[in-house]
Amino acid sequence: MEEATLDNPQTTAKPAPFGTVFADTMTVTRYVDGVWSEVESIPVAPLSIHPGAHVLHYASTCFEGLKAFRMPDGDVRIFRLDRHLARLQQSAGLVCLPAPPTDVVEQMVRQTVAESRNILPTPPGALYLRPTLIGTETNIGAAGAASTEAMFYVLASPVGDYFSGGGRPLSILIEDQQMRSAPGFGQAKTGGNYASALRHVIRGRNEQGVDQVLFCPNGDVQETGASNFFLVNDRQLLTKPLDSSFLHGVTRDSVVTLASHLGYEVIERDFTVDDIKDWIKTGEAMLSGTAAVLAGVGKFVHDGREYVVNDGKIGPNTQRLREALVGIQTGTDEDVFGWLS
Ligand SMILES: Cc1ncc(COP(=O)(O)O)c(C=O)c1O
Repeated sequence: MEEATLDNPQTTAKPAPFGTVFADTMTVTRYVDGVWSEVESIPVAPLSIHPGAHVLHYASTCFEGLKAFRMPDGDVRIFRLDRHLARLQQSAGLVCLPAPPTDVVEQMVRQTVAESRNILPTPPGALYLRPTLIGTETNIGAAGAASTEAMFYVLASPVGDYFSGGGRPLSILIEDQQMRSAPGFGQAKTGGNYASALRHVIRGRNEQGVDQVLFCPNGDVQETGASNFFLVNDRQLLTKPLDSSFLHGVTRDSVVTLASHLGYEVIERDFTVDDIKDWIKTGEAMLSGTAAVLAGVGKFVHDGREYVVNDGKIGPNTQRLREALVGIQTGTDEDVFGWLS
């Protein structure tokens, strides 16, 4: 079967797994002696980094994930760049790393997109952008000190669907004991949070055969390992209000805005695992994220029991909101909120 490659990213044949194909070049800047260097474009290749670098020992790192789409007229636009730029600054602050000024990051993202235009897949494929910040000071005695040196780069990767199987309904394990991240740190987009969630996600996948794990410590429904969580029905959309326990998804914000625009009553309040079980007797559940877009849940697993959602199919409200979101992202619907730039 034909493989998706950089030379042929638009093939509809079996695509490469999400995040495994990269552009040839990336933009980079380095922080040394208190200043960021001139932005360069360099080949995407192994980095030279000292084995004693701060990031390798003390996880001083954060990143972003956003997408650029090809519009029907051939133009390329980035979805909600301002939100991602702001969140990068917030994450950098939480992991005590210096970040390049927002206008420099914006310029780097735009330059990376411009250099990768030729590998941008047709919609619903996109160019996934991964701005990444790492602490590079060589010091294995700096557990209690911020890295004085850093590197920031913007990688690009042509992508299709994140969850293999595309639009199929997902199965989700409800984890009501463990937390995804340390309290107060959930809003940082940092590697350590993914490391701390990973063993639970792997256990769910291997032992229960689920796609993802929904973290609900002591019953408080928060988020999955890589997406935010919603309940929806014909009239209402329910999601947890923003607090420091989970990542403030840009897609979450977009879905909340769209749902309100489409006439749903948007309810942002804390809710429990029991509320999920009640809601799905008649309603739907879905996950949102830049990579996942808006994915329907077909089944929950909790305490060894299965709870089927909407007969195991993607529900009409999930479908409707997903189409509204993708329509704006890909330029087939009017950009009423000014999200593309
Ligand atoms: C843990 C986690 N929560 C939520 C999200 C959704 O955030 P966004 O919609 O900004 O991609 C992500 C990222 O995709 C994530 O990794």
